[in-house]
Amino acid sequence: MSRTDTAGRLRLGVNIDHVATVRNARGGDVPDPLRAARLAEAAGADGITAHLREDRRHISDADIEALSAALTVPLNFEMAATDEMQAIALRYKPHAVCIVPEKREERTTEGGLEVAQDENRLTHFIAPLRDAGCRVSIFIAADARQIEAAHRIGAAVVELHTGAYCDAHAEGRFEDRDAELDRLREMSTFAHSLGLEVHAGHGLTYDTVKPVAAFPEMIELNIGHFLVGEAIFVGLDPAIRKMRHLMDSARADAAPENTAPGGQS
Ligand code: PXP
Repeated sequence: MSRTDTAGRLRLGVNIDHVATVRNARGGDVPDPLRAARLAEAAGADGITAHLREDRRHISDADIEALSAALTVPLNFEMAATDEMQAIALRYKPHAVCIVPEKREERTTEGGLEVAQDENRLTHFIAPLRDAGCRVSIFIAADARQIEAAHRIGAAVVELHTGAYCDAHAEGRFEDRDAELDRLREMSTFAHSLGLEVHAGHGLTYDTVKPVAAFPEMIELNIGHFLVGEAIFVGLDPAIRKMRHLMDSARADAAPENTAPGGQS
């Protein structure tokens, strides 16, 4: 892919897991993740992301069925590399499948997938998903070893885990934050050089999104928890529109014509 291919509008995938978290706190049907997904589409989301966890703590099987039937934008189905999840993905054939590590005791997806040590199994695991037409993405740390392994197993996309960068920012560890950002930037370039499409996500907020959105190789950001939290105060539509605006302005500021007078790069 040339630089021109990646210089277009950065995609925003809105993760609606935590609408389901609020619903499940009381049982019942409200708030409805599908309604949130429709609002997100209208507010400028380019895709909807949902993680069907093995313990079904937020998104349910019925949510995946409803999203698959009703969305007009692509569904990015996040799942662990288990036989049960593979069967569900093959039933609905979502646009994208993002393979994530999963531990029952974790509060959220804590780290990236260990691809390098599980290459053989993962190669066989993703083959039927690719054959079914799903774009397979692997959620990994910004680490060259994992990126090379994701490339070798035949993934089309890597999603780089931005959690360490966002945590360092939130905790005021600014040297660590800048080092994490440098690592993300370098690894985006490296993954792109191998022909992988580059996505990123986890923990992104209005304060942390712009530097990552400015990476020229970045194609998609997946953002959820912060947006659902912000929606409590301002509503989902304005929360998403503001994120969309920050992403677009970061990309416009970083465009070659804005860094070299006369449009030369
Ligand atoms: N991308 C992946 C692969 C994830 O697992 C998650 C969290 O479910 C996200 C993005 C979104 O992270 P957050 O909800 O912190 O914005």
